[in-house]
Amino acid sequence: MLERLQSWREAIGNTPLVELKHNKIQLFAKLESHNYTGSVKIRPAYTILEAAIARGEITEETTVIESSSGNFAIALASLCRRLGIRFIPVIDPNINPLYEKLLRSLSPRVEKVTVRDQTNGYLLSRLKRIEQLKAEIEGAFWTNQYDNPDSVRSHYEGVGKELAEALPRIDYVFIGTSSCGTLAGVSRRIKESHPAARIIAVDTEGSAIFGDTPRKRLIPGIGSSIVPPNLREAQIDDIILVPEAATVAGCNRLMREHALFVGGSSGTVYAALSRYFENWASGGAKPVVAFICADGGMAYMDTLYNPEWTAQLTSSGAPEAPWPSVREAAGGRRPGH
Ligand SMILES: Cc1ncc(COP(=O)(O)O)c(C=O)c1O
Repeated sequence: MLERLQSWREAIGNTPLVELKHNKIQLFAKLESHNYTGSVKIRPAYTILEAAIARGEITEETTVIESSSGNFAIALASLCRRLGIRFIPVIDPNINPLYEKLLRSLSPRVEKVTVRDQTNGYLLSRLKRIEQLKAEIEGAFWTNQYDNPDSVRSHYEGVGKELAEALPRIDYVFIGTSSCGTLAGVSRRIKESHPAARIIAVDTEGSAIFGDTPRKRLIPGIGSSIVPPNLREAQIDDIILVPEAATVAGCNRLMREHALFVGGSSGTVYAALSRYFENWASGGAKPVVAFICADGGMAYMDTLYNPEWTAQLTSSGAPEAPWPSVREAAGGRRPGH
């Protein structure tokens, strides 16, 4: 089984790092859409499966299960098909219709929860369904992306290492959060080789990760209605919570200013870093700033890039309204500006 999986190794990682023009900072974007299945989530999917096969926890008889309405499900579904084992994604009605179609063609059984949980989201309902599947299916293997050291390791050895080796100096890295695997792995790796680098965690308003009251959110790929145990492993200096309307503005600016067509979490991170450096006094060497574009924009054509759809976000909060920009992480240091 391992050889079947490892024959895909070449299609994962070593993604491009491109420099974007900016008047105050030296800005680099890591383009994770260049991975097999089109997102950063193939990295944890691959590493989790590889480690579980090596430990004998996944065999030809295993059914892999996971709660994901997006990139992680597509990544797992593709690798499990490659391995010839069953995969059951647990999804919810917020799933992008294109993703649902793709998942249904890759995985014969898809479980869709329809009842909202107490946070007005679906994550807790999806996790409840996972528990039922674990009890129902003999030999079920839950990849548990919210609490998985192999996920954190995949980002430590993946994006973290690639960024650390590509840039001799790094002053800031901005990272979007959902399961917090990327944040934990990348932050640990960067701090090891670039101890002066500051790690800025970027989340969306209405996400529980950094203590905001969880509420209905519409942009997939960023935010969570639980605090993921992976977060314990992260080393962060500052936290920025971005309103969903500002995410749309961030996506559009990346497109207009840099011809980068990316997904919602990337737009969120770009909005955050633009706000962070807004009043930066230029002079002296420009700080070196990296951010991760976790996926591409094509899947969001009918939502984030569709003004009729985004109207529902702008009506609930003007994009240019002030938003609480930067919060210090526990034990972190404030930026010198
Ligand atoms: C597009 C996108 N961006 C960012 C993330 C967040 O990554 P992580 O789950 O490692 O926090 C995800 C996770 O699903 C994602 O799909």
